[in-house]
Amino acid sequence: MKKLIFILILFVPVLVLAGQNNCLTCHQDFEDDDGPSHIFSRDVHSQKGIGCVDCHGGDASLEDMDEVREVRGYRGVPSHREVPDFCARCHSDATYMRNHNPALATDQLDKYKTSVHGERLYRNNDKKVANCISCHSVHEMGNGKMPHSSTHPFNIPYTCGKCHSNPEYMAEYGIATDQLHNFEQSVHGKALLEKRDAGAPACNDCHSNHGAAPPGTENLAAVCGTCHALEAELFVKSPHNDAFNEKNFPMCETCHSNHLVVKPSDAMIGDKPPSVCIRCHSDNDGTKGLETAKAFRGMIDMVVAGREEAHIALREAITKGMMTTDEELRLKEVDQALIQTRTQVHSFNMEDMSPHAVLGKALTDTVKANSAGLIDEYYFRRKGLGLASLFITLMAIGLYIKIRRLP
Ligand code: HEC
Ligand code: HEC
Ligand code: HEC
Ligand code: HEC
Ligand code: HEC
Ligand code: HEC
Ligand code: HEC
Ligand code: HEC
Ligand code: HEC
Repeated sequence: MKKLIFILILFVPVLVLAGQNNCLTCHQDFEDDDGPSHIFSRDVHSQKGIGCVDCHGGDASLEDMDEVREVRGYRGVPSHREVPDFCARCHSDATYMRNHNPALATDQLDKYKTSVHGERLYRNNDKKVANCISCHSVHEMGNGKMPHSSTHPFNIPYTCGKCHSNPEYMAEYGIATDQLHNFEQSVHGKALLEKRDAGAPACNDCHSNHGAAPPGTENLAAVCGTCHALEAELFVKSPHNDAFNEKNFPMCETCHSNHLVVKPSDAMIGDKPPSVCIRCHSDNDGTKGLETAKAFRGMIDMVVAGREEAHIALREAITKGMMTTDEELRLKEVDQALIQTRTQVHSFNMEDMSPHAVLGKALTDTVKANSAGLIDEYYFRRKGLGLASLFITLMAIGLYIKIRRLP
């Protein structure tokens, strides 16, 4: 026992010294508040026990930077081109990663090489394309769940926008720099950035984190279908599928755009501006395109008008205090049918679309008729009530007279 204590007393100072992170303490002494050593406590690596030495190499027990630089395996600061390999030393090492977190993928570098960023980095030695730390930041890296992280969904548009919405920075590539601006105005951008709806796509949900196209989609054009499965399913079966493939029109963007997706309206269909159909179809193009566009619009307008009338009738029945629960539920079914009718636009086929519109119309007719019935009942009851009160009053007067006449 005494021996053990002796050994412990002998070794504790050694252990403390060896465990001391001189990199951190010395760097904290001279770096500004936003220097690596100060912000590093927010870094996911720091939180998982990965220190300066694990990335940069060197020896944390040394007290002099010059000595650190002489340690074999000191990596120093990687250049822009070296960063991916610097990170991949761990992140592409399946055995290493399995010991830390078996759930974490090890394909980031492989995928990155297939992206425009990776291709240009390696092929052209392009110093302006994104490497790992352009997106992940450095020394305060987080994962997609940490609010401070540059890859958190709410921050991603600005992480990408830092380069992509900077016209000077992007000038030499001749590509647009309006993606962030357009995205901010879109249904998706508003849902993500204003409503804080994490189900709405950020840039990486469409473009993928690392690769050229997200998994499950052959190309970027199919990406909308990963969330809007019903519309994509209808589209694939529609006459547009082959025609669009042949002409290289992307399947959803052609009508909805990619970054500036706005809330669709019925005005997008029909034979008058701002209908999207008339961009390609005309009376004499030899297809049923325009005819269908007109018929679709007619169907939708019919249900919308029917719904309005039903709603007015129902409101009157409600203000008259009638039992309207059934009709209120039926009006919700009309709304459902209207949603389905609009979704069925993507079949571009009258036979698929019309049953939903016909159902919607039939439901509005029922609501209208039943509400009218309730209103009639109200007047009938009121008349009945009037007669009944008159009768009771007469009875009361009769009774009163009778009582007065009694001795
Ligand atoms: C006694 C203080 C001290 C210690 C200990 C120390 N550094 Fe440094 N380090 C410095 C100074 C000073 C610089 C130079 C800063 C400059 O030139 O702007 C520096 C520079 C660096 C750089 C920039 C690249 C380079 O080579 O100049 C890296 C990376 C770095 N240190 C990492 C480490 C790591 C990792 C450790 C621990 C193994 C460590 N430092 C230990 C003081 C220290
Ligand atoms: C996850 C890996 C990783 C860890 C851990 C890490 N660094 Fe770095 N560090 C980098 C990368 C990558 C760069 C290159 C940054 C760049 O090119 O802008 C860098 C750059 C630096 C630089 C020079 C550039 C600068 O920002 O001033 C210093 C100094 C530095 N690190 C110090 C440290 C210290 C001190 C620690 C521990 C507190 C640390 N690093 C932990 C990856 C790491
Ligand atoms: C020394 C090995 C090592 C190096 C080098 C390294 N990492 Fe890591 N990284 C890890 C480990 C270990 C984790 C934590 C895994 C866990 O436990 O969840 C991690 C976590 C991460 C995470 C968070 C993953 C998640 O979803 O939680 C990101 C992002 C990340 N690293 C990016 C980078 C980038 C970018 C670089 C290069 C600048 C880099 N790493 C360099 C080992 C390393
Ligand atoms: C164009 C921006 C971008 C580049 C370049 C990039 N990443 Fe990522 N990375 C992301 C985004 C966005 C996520 C998703 C964030 C999340 O869910 O944690 C991510 C996720 C990760 C993760 C978490 C596990 C995973 O695969 O989802 C790791 C680890 C990672 N990146 C490492 C790297 C490494 C290593 C490199 C360089 C070879 C790199 N990243 C390059 C944007 C980028
Ligand atoms: C460090 C700056 C930088 C960051 C950050 C960055 N990119 Fe890029 N990106 C570029 C450059 C430069 C190109 C090359 C342009 C080219 O070749 O057309 C490019 C190319 C692209 C392309 C291909 C454009 C084409 O030519 O069709 C896409 C898509 C793209 N980036 C998406 C993103 C997304 C999404 C993010 C964020 C997750 C992001 N980028 C972050 C600089 C950046
Ligand atoms: C809803 C899906 C979606 C979202 C969200 C999205 N993109 Fe795109 N993006 C696309 C599609 C689709 C294309 C067209 C690609 C093609 O035709 O090959 C595209 C094209 C691009 C291009 C190539 C140049 C251009 O404008 O055509 C860049 C750069 C780009 N996006 C960056 C971004 C950035 C940055 C964000 C976030 C602010 C973002 N994207 C958000 C789907 C999306
Ligand atoms: C990551 C999932 C996701 C992806 C990918 C996606 N969307 Fe969306 N989209 C949503 C969500 C969530 C909403 C609802 C936003 C809201 O709250 O208004 C939405 C809304 C819409 C709307 C408005 C619907 C309405 O009734 O108001 C249209 C149109 C749309 N998306 C088209 C597209 C197109 C086109 C693409 C591909 C370029 C696409 N979406 C990619 C999730 C996605
Ligand atoms: C970007 C161009 C484009 C837009 C926009 C467009 N179409 Fe088409 N449409 C086509 C092409 C191309 C064909 C195939 C014509 C052929 O078979 O020769 C087609 C075929 C059709 C067909 C099948 C016609 C037939 O004779 O079998 C219908 C129906 C149709 N479109 C309806 C619509 C409706 C409704 C809209 C508006 C919501 C619309 N289209 C918008 C390009 C477009
Ligand atoms: C030929 C033009 C055209 C194409 C291609 C197209 N849409 Fe639409 N989309 C429309 C029109 C028109 C409406 C408006 C319906 C209404 O409100 O009356 C619409 C409405 C929508 C809506 C809102 C209504 C609903 O279904 O909930 C979503 C979401 C949507 N589209 C997604 C997509 C997706 C995803 C794709 C690709 C698979 C796509 N659209 C392809 C024309 C098109």
